[in-house]
Amino acid sequence: MKIAILTGGGDCPGMNAFVRAVVRCSLNMRPETDVWGVTDGWKGLINNDYRRLNKRDVAGLGSAGGTVLGTVRVPELAARVDLQEKIARNLHENHFDYLFMCGGNGSIKAANVIETILRREDMMTRIVAAPGSIDNDVCNNIGLSIGFYSALDKSLEMLGWIRDTASSHRRVYLVKSMGRKSAYLAFYAGIATGAEYVIQPGENIDFEKLAVLIGERDRDTRIIVSEGYDALTLTEIRETLENIFGQRNLTHEIRTVDMGYFQRGGKAAVTDILRASWVAFRMVKDAFRNCESGFYTASYIGDSPEVLPLYIAADDAITSHDDIPPEVVEMALALR
Ligand code: F6P
Repeated sequence: MKIAILTGGGDCPGMNAFVRAVVRCSLNMRPETDVWGVTDGWKGLINNDYRRLNKRDVAGLGSAGGTVLGTVRVPELAARVDLQEKIARNLHENHFDYLFMCGGNGSIKAANVIETILRREDMMTRIVAAPGSIDNDVCNNIGLSIGFYSALDKSLEMLGWIRDTASSHRRVYLVKSMGRKSAYLAFYAGIATGAEYVIQPGENIDFEKLAVLIGERDRDTRIIVSEGYDALTLTEIRETLENIFGQRNLTHEIRTVDMGYFQRGGKAAVTDILRASWVAFRMVKDAFRNCESGFYTASYIGDSPEVLPLYIAADDAITSHDDIPPEVVEMALALR
């Protein structure tokens, strides 16, 4: 059997654990397997850019952040049928039996489109995909994506550091979080750290209410601003609040900080390493049994991953929701 491994979209901790597990499981379970890594994600499949992987190539990769295979965003892939067909042809002509993919929302959509072409043209490659994204916006009603816990860990640590300086100076911090418009990262980080408020994508901020909330506190206040809230910049939110503070004779100082790319880097959380390894192991076993293409949820060791057809996993209307569930919002407010 000949397989290719690809990490797509934004990198996340846990992708390397996935690559390592696919390589090790396939070569240990069937040493004759021909294993290739795709360089730079979907771009590598367009350019036929692969390198052979052996067990030593992935030594020590379990907890390493980023992706050793590299990833490049190819936004035009969604609309360019010629590129989609080229990828399908390249997979087939290189005699790959399976493509193992770990990626986010956009990559699952790409995998689905390419798989449709592969089936339509009766080509040989099948695609097995696992969710890898700090945004948790892949099939997020049936499991958490690989990378999400790692990004949460980083966020908690950063929010702890901010608490130290915020409480020392009695300051208010507006803290920007990544996570696209799914807002999972912002809310889960807010809940876990006990932030005073989380501004959601699309929210119509009630500044008066927010000023009251801040005014009631005499020390630090951390307000997380989720990516996807784009009506105002951090600076504009700060200025609006400062005006209201002025009218109410509040002396609170406000600072702004963006956690951004720091959330995405660094070591993988052990939960992500274990789930990435488990799902990869299950995918390899299924491939050796000649399974069909499919999307695998990243379950915990011992639980069977749910396996969905790629067209279901790629359909936001069926499996994904952009809005955080209302009860999670309620919980965040209740815990502040
Ligand atoms: O999808 C992961 C993510 O980190 C998002 O949270 C963020 O919006 C985006 O990627 C940033 O993308 P890029 O790395 O292309 O700037």
